[in-house]
Amino acid sequence: MYQLNYHSKSKSGLVLKDLENILESAIFTNSSRDITGCLIFHNKNFVQILEGKKKDVQDVYEKIKMDNRHSDVTLLWENKVDKRYFPEWNMAYHKPENENLKQYVNNLMLLSALSDRSTGSLLSFWATVRKILNNDKKHQLKEI
Ligand SMILES: Cc1cc2nc3c(=O)[nH]c(=O)nc-3n(C[C@H](O)[C@H](O)[C@H](O)COP(=O)(O)O)c2cc1C
Repeated sequence: MYQLNYHSKSKSGLVLKDLENILESAIFTNSSRDITGCLIFHNKNFVQILEGKKKDVQDVYEKIKMDNRHSDVTLLWENKVDKRYFPEWNMAYHKPENENLKQYVNNLMLLSALSDRSTGSLLSFWATVRKILNNDKKHQLKEI
């Protein structure tokens, strides 16, 4: 199992419909390739984790990088992992309400120029997101 994490900046003027379209095609493609993960959108930033077979994840990432609904796509972390973080979601969406998570996403963008990014803090970030999603299974996309 392989996991990949990146962040990017959304194009200006991204609206709810854009995000719905992104998630719709993500869920469609990811389910056919057995890819799971989570997409975060906060403060015009995307952070996404993708997990699955290495080749499938990398193929999808190549497509994502070329998508003009965002820019400055920056790989944060990639690794072999024992198990999935988001086994139940072909692409979960999470809008962070929690101040620590919001701050973390902001920091990720600020620190993107630095090469020393801590894998531990990224994984604890996703563990927190997963916990929130698990407690809120009815979560629906209503606003961005
Ligand atoms: C922030 C963001 C996240 C995306 N996540 C995925 C994803 O997880 N899986 C996916 O197939 N496409 C994702 N897409 C959409 C792809 O970039 C692409 O539009 C989609 O795979 C359809 O490509 P195709 O028409 O060449 O098949 C994402 C796009 C953006 C902007």
